Order: sequence, then C-alpha cells, then structure tokens
Amino acid sequence: MRFTEGIIYDIIVAVQNGCLHFAGKIIAGSVYSLARYVINGGKTLQGTVTISGAKNAALAILPAVLLVDGQCRIENVPDISDVHILLDILKNMGAEVTEKGSVVTIDCSPVRSTCPEAALVRKMRASYYLMGALLGRFGKANVALPGGCNFASRPIDQHIKGFLALGADVDESDDYVALQPGVGGLHGGKVSLDVVSVGATVNIMLAATLLPGQTIIENAAKEPHIVDLANFLNTMGARVSGAGTDTVKIRGVRSLKGGTYAIIPDQIEAGTYMAAVTAAGGNILVQNVIPKHMDCITTKLQEMGAKITSYDDAIRVERTGALRSTTVKTRPYPGFPTDMQAQVCVCMALASGVSRLTENVYETRFFGYCTELENMGADILISGKTAIVTGKDHLHGATVEAHDLRAGAALVIAGLAAEGQTTVEKIHFIERGYENLIEKLTALGADIRRLED
Ligand code: EPZ
Repeated sequence: MRFTEGIIYDIIVAVQNGCLHFAGKIIAGSVYSLARYVINGGKTLQGTVTISGAKNAALAILPAVLLVDGQCRIENVPDISDVHILLDILKNMGAEVTEKGSVVTIDCSPVRSTCPEAALVRKMRASYYLMGALLGRFGKANVALPGGCNFASRPIDQHIKGFLALGADVDESDDYVALQPGVGGLHGGKVSLDVVSVGATVNIMLAATLLPGQTIIENAAKEPHIVDLANFLNTMGARVSGAGTDTVKIRGVRSLKGGTYAIIPDQIEAGTYMAAVTAAGGNILVQNVIPKHMDCITTKLQEMGAKITSYDDAIRVERTGALRSTTVKTRPYPGFPTDMQAQVCVCMALASGVSRLTENVYETRFFGYCTELENMGADILISGKTAIVTGKDHLHGATVEAHDLRAGAALVIAGLAAEGQTTVEKIHFIERGYENLIEKLTALGADIRRLED
C-alpha cells in the first residue's frame, strides 16, 4: 500500500534527520485521517459564502513558477492540503517560499534539483506537473508517479505523448518517469491529444513555454484553470495563445520574469455550495465567482428547481419548493463537470421522480459515494456509465466514509440535507480541496463540527 509506505518512509527520514517534529506531524497526519465531521442535518442554509481561489488553477500555476527567473507573488491561493504539499515539494527543492494569508511569494531561482521528493510527490495527483515544469526549465526531470484520488484509472499516456512530441526521451518505470532530451534535442512540436486531458494540456504547456519554436496542442482541454495558467504564464512574459479553445499554441521564449498574479475563483467549490443549498434548501449568496464559469452547473440546478440570479461576481441561489428530477451528462468544459457529479447526485436523490446521471469522463467515479448515499436512504441503480436515481422525500443520517475529494463533499451535502445526525469519516480527502469548509458552512447556518481523536 503505497500511501502507508509513504508515511513510514517519511517517519524514517524525519527521525534520521532528527526532526521529530516532522515525524510527529506525519504520525499526527495518520491520526489526522481519523478526523471526522459530525453534522446535524435538516437545517436550511442562509447567508453569504465567499469562494476561494481555484484548487486546480493553483496546482498548475505553482509548479509553473519553476519556469520564472525571479520572484512571483501569487494571490488568492486556497489554504488546502494539496497546495501545502506542493509548496513543501518546492521548498524541499530549494525554492524560497513565504505564505501570508492567501498570498504566496515564491522564488524558484535557487532550485537546481530535477528530482522532487518522492514521498511528497506520491501524496497528490497534480505533482505530475513537475514533469513538464522541470523538463521546460532544466531539460530533464525524474519524477515519481503521483498519488491522489483513485476513483478511476488515471493514466498519463497523453502527457508522455506530449513530451515525446517536444523531442524528449521518456523512461517510464513502475514508480518513476525520467525525461531527458532526445537525439534531436528539445524543441517545439505538435501534439493532437487522443482524449481531452486537463493534466496533459497543462504539462505540455509547462514543458513548451521556454523551448525554441512553436508548440501546438490540438484537442486541448478548455477548463477555466487552463486559461488561468495561460494568463499567468503570459503575465510573466510567455507567448501562449488559444487557451480556452481546443487548440493551444505556445511560442517558446528565452526566459520569464517575476510578477504578480491572482488566481481565479474555484468553479467547483462554488458549484458545491450551490448544490448544497439546492439539496438542503434555503437562500445563499455565493460571492467571488465568475458566473460564466458556472453556466453548466446553474442550468442544471435551475432545471431541478433552484432559483438562481447571477451578478457581476456573485450568484444567489434559492430553493424553497420541491426538487424536480433531471438528466445530467458530464463532459469536459464547458459541459457539466465530472467534479460536480457526486454533488448533483445528492440533489437528484432528493428530487421527485427519476433522474439519470451519466459519467463520460471517469468510468468508475460513482463507486466513491453511491453506496454511502444508499446507507442514508438514497435509491441509486448504476447501469454502465449511468446512475438511475429515484428521488426520496428525505435522507436519514448515518456514519459514512469519504473515498475521494468530491465524493466526500457530496456526503457532507447529504448530511446537511438529511434528517438526523451524519458522521463523515476520512475527511482528509475533503480537506485536500475545500478551504475553511466548517467555517463557511457554519456561517450559512449549518450544524457541523470537526472532531479528531
Ligand atoms: C484534472 O484531473 C483535475 N485535477 C480533476 O479534478 C478533474 O476531475 C479532471 O481534470 C477532469 O476535469 C486537477 O486538475 C489537479 P484529465 P486530470 O487528464 O488532469 C483520461 C478534483 O476533484 N486520460 O482531464 O487527471 C482520464 O483517464 C480532481 O479536483 C487519459 O486517458 O484529468 C480521464 O478519463 C479530481 N490519458 C480523462 O482523460 C492521460 O494521459 C480526463 O482526465 C490523461 C487523461
């Protein structure tokens, strides 16, 4: 079990280095996994919630600082464990990092290593962006394969396809990916992705930014965090065009200079709160959002009975009447996001009639939470890529377990809407991606506590 090995390895390294504090933190980290949320449901949500910076934008932009010759000030960085792990990796490689609230100041000029600490890399998924960033900066990289939420098989063949198109030699073992220049050296290239992949699009953009010549990524991902990464790179002097379309072009430049950049609001965090009030009922203002990013989610929640009003940088969501069934098919952006699949399923479980939820991005994503929801009284039949959800007039509290980030968020939403008490265990998954969840939900009137043995 790699994760256990990772913790044991961390403790051995920490004790050898005499930093028992670090070992204590790792041990605490394993105790941390015994922490849980206790929710007394049945209360509607009222008030205002402010959305934090986008996790998946921050996790792409922070490795991109490796390409910059100088200091970057990154604003609106979410305070979540994935970000902290990534900053630990960069610090461990020699980067100078200061954190003050949601502002991270980071200078990767001192970094010389092309082999980030494997035990840290294995603790998250987005650490694989270090492959593209190190290849782009140093012309080589030796990065352990990532960890993170394992709700489905998560291959990296499209990332490798991109690196090969840029002239790299790729050596893949069971645990590592080693990259170095091929006989023709590294250069801009053209890659047509076989599948729309956020990760591969990001990794190829990072690898190509400082390479000579032009790189073209066809069938590129169009998510808001792809555009945010391109805007960050261009702010520092890169020449990226077409981000947000299915063809991204990168003209290599010789260097990037430091500067300041603010990360966009988190589309999925905002969608999670919108789904929470749709399921639990109430009336909330979700502020610090880009309404355009929410269109696909707004449309579906409106179909289910939520009354939604969009403003310049806020969205009001009100649900007082009965929930109606609907049909959702997840798609890459601008379609309904796969990262909102679990959350909208909870709304369906409480809607009158039969809803159909089809997952077109990750084939096995249902299994992270549907069984847990059934323990709360939900009626869900999975048939291939589709969940057939027969709505009930209520869910009841239970003790449930988070299996990944968004599955955990869905169980919190179910607990808010359910009658009685719900305990959600293994909440470390949830705290990878939701900043100040307890504080934000409590401010909306939820009865939720975080307990830790
Ligand atoms: C990113 O994961 C996000 N993670 C995921 O969010 C999100 O679910 C996913 O994009 C889709 O939007 C981060 O940004 C850190 P993909 P990623 O490459 O990049 C297949 C969350 O909850 N594929 O777009 O790993 C893959 O199997 C997380 O915040 C290949 O076949 O996703 C999947 O079916 C969970 N080969 C599809 O493409 C590859 O080389 C989309 O994957 C890469 C991907």
